[in-house]
Amino acid sequence: MTLPAQPAEQSKATDPSLQWDPVYQLKVDVNAIGSPIQSTMYGVFFEDINFGADGGLYAELVKNRSFEFDNPLAGWLPFGNVSIQTKSPCFDRNPHYARLSYDKQITGTGLINEGFRGIGVKEGEKYDFSVYARTVTNASLKIRVQLVGKDNSPFETKEIEISGKNWDKYTVTLTAPKTEMQGRLRVQLITPGTVDLEHISLFPQKTFNNRPNGLRADLAQALKDLKPGVFRFPGGCIVEGTTLETRYQWKNTIGPVENRPTNVNRWNYTFDHKVFPDYFQSYGLGFYEYFVLSEDLGAEPLPVLHCGLSCQFENHDMCQHVSLKDLKPFVDDALDLIEFANGPVTSKWGKIRAEMGHPEPFHLKLLAIGNEQWGSIYPERLEMFVKAIREKYPEILIIGSSGPGSEGEAFDYLWPEMKRLEVDLVDEHFYRSPEWFLHGVDRYDSYDRNGPKVFAGEYACHTGNQDNNFLAALCEAAFMTGFERNADVVHLTTYAPLFAHVDAWQWKPDLIWFDNLSVMKTPNYYVQQMYGQNAGTHVLPMVQDGKPLTGQHDLYATAALDKNTNEIILKIANTGMRQQRIQLNLSGLSSGKHVGTLTLLQSYDLNANNTINQPECITPVKSSVEVDGSELNVQLLPFSFYVYRIAL
Ligand code: AHR
Repeated sequence: MTLPAQPAEQSKATDPSLQWDPVYQLKVDVNAIGSPIQSTMYGVFFEDINFGADGGLYAELVKNRSFEFDNPLAGWLPFGNVSIQTKSPCFDRNPHYARLSYDKQITGTGLINEGFRGIGVKEGEKYDFSVYARTVTNASLKIRVQLVGKDNSPFETKEIEISGKNWDKYTVTLTAPKTEMQGRLRVQLITPGTVDLEHISLFPQKTFNNRPNGLRADLAQALKDLKPGVFRFPGGCIVEGTTLETRYQWKNTIGPVENRPTNVNRWNYTFDHKVFPDYFQSYGLGFYEYFVLSEDLGAEPLPVLHCGLSCQFENHDMCQHVSLKDLKPFVDDALDLIEFANGPVTSKWGKIRAEMGHPEPFHLKLLAIGNEQWGSIYPERLEMFVKAIREKYPEILIIGSSGPGSEGEAFDYLWPEMKRLEVDLVDEHFYRSPEWFLHGVDRYDSYDRNGPKVFAGEYACHTGNQDNNFLAALCEAAFMTGFERNADVVHLTTYAPLFAHVDAWQWKPDLIWFDNLSVMKTPNYYVQQMYGQNAGTHVLPMVQDGKPLTGQHDLYATAALDKNTNEIILKIANTGMRQQRIQLNLSGLSSGKHVGTLTLLQSYDLNANNTINQPECITPVKSSVEVDGSELNVQLLPFSFYVYRIAL
């Protein structure tokens, strides 16, 4: 691949008459059915980074609804007489609440919530407001609840009467008369007296699959449209935590949302140049919701658990790691999680799952222990988990880590260790350059077929400025042909990270960008989608001169059979700036006409990207095709990715 295209060459690329075009003969043997492709092959990895959960996928619109951030009034603009209290709280694990007193001050008394870089509401849509409240003085008081603009002008108003000195839940529905991207929520005490308010929440009624405490419909739908086979959660580095105290503890993320203890998000302070003091985890989107989402997506759930080691990038001594003698509660957490997911309703944790609304098991099959770990301290700990899980739940597939890099000392040490421990899959992470992706397409050709399988758990092509762009997407498309060709050893793959709020991101590139009202799918997203929607069930050999296409003439290709639909699927990436002609001999295809479809992602501009305002600059284009007999002649455009589905 020649990068980037020189201007003169670029015009050549756009003018077909100037092409030098030998015809490459490729062959696919339709009857040489190879390894099965796992249904988990193409999935998604979700982490609460870039405001991916609170402020993103989790549909709650109020930031710091429980007043539990380090600064309990973060996200709130108080006016009049407002204080934070903790005495006889409504929720013991989220003890802070706001006390509002009004004595006819000119200013009034109340709170304005700024949301997550504003509160986005859509014209005509309904929003459920709720609050836990009690009066401190009078028998009954009134609060006013308003949607207001950025300039604080109200555009929807409702009132609620609060009565009684015991905590109670109050609700009211607001209807947005207009669309507002960066609205606010104002709550004001309008009768004299004192009132306590806790867990102030505003949720769109329209959530994904209409679930209560649900997910933003457009973002969750974008995940569904990827047709993911596996859903990895909740991280990533947030699993590890910078300290043991701030690690992700799944048990804190289940049960009533109001009493899930708030935790700081490590992406709050990770990068000095990107500090987000208002980034915390409410855990409103917790393990139960992740399991339900996996089910809604039709994807296998894949939780990642803390292995007793906090983030190793941040901790160079053992202070924030757990000694082997103290590791048992961490191992028990893993066993309890399996019981929470799969246990009968009569079991301790299965009962909690049932009480939360899901008596049926979640059919958990995969479990990762540790995220990016390295050194002998990792296998020492992992071994204890493996023994305990194998003993109690031998059916669970265990995933170990190969460290934070795609090769090198940690990687070379850990892979043999993972084989020694006989884990089922090894998680590999690679955020690498376009050149690395293209040269690495044969990475898995030489992997041991008898060891653990591969989970490419985090990967993304990073170009110079780390923007999403067509170049990165095309390199990923080319590299992924290597996943598919090696489906006997590569069983799971997930791009990372998944989501980013345009006004609150810490890391790029990311698969899906969003603001408070809309979603933007990157070219990288469309590559994932083209693979996910066209996964196939079995590998078919696709060769030129007997060899797979791994970059010869800038071409990368793979073929699959879909036994469910009786189609063959061809994926071909042309990373060159020239048009290329190929003649595909689909050996074994019967004579006569075969109908099919072509999905094409192409751009002459490698730097091109979609933006939140122009989300459709680069999108796949679908068309019908017809193959006569067993020969398919294709003129591949420069910088292109083709996916054919052809009926047998
Ligand atoms: O995907 C972003 C981060 O990259 C993940 O949290 C971590 O596992 C990796 O270092």
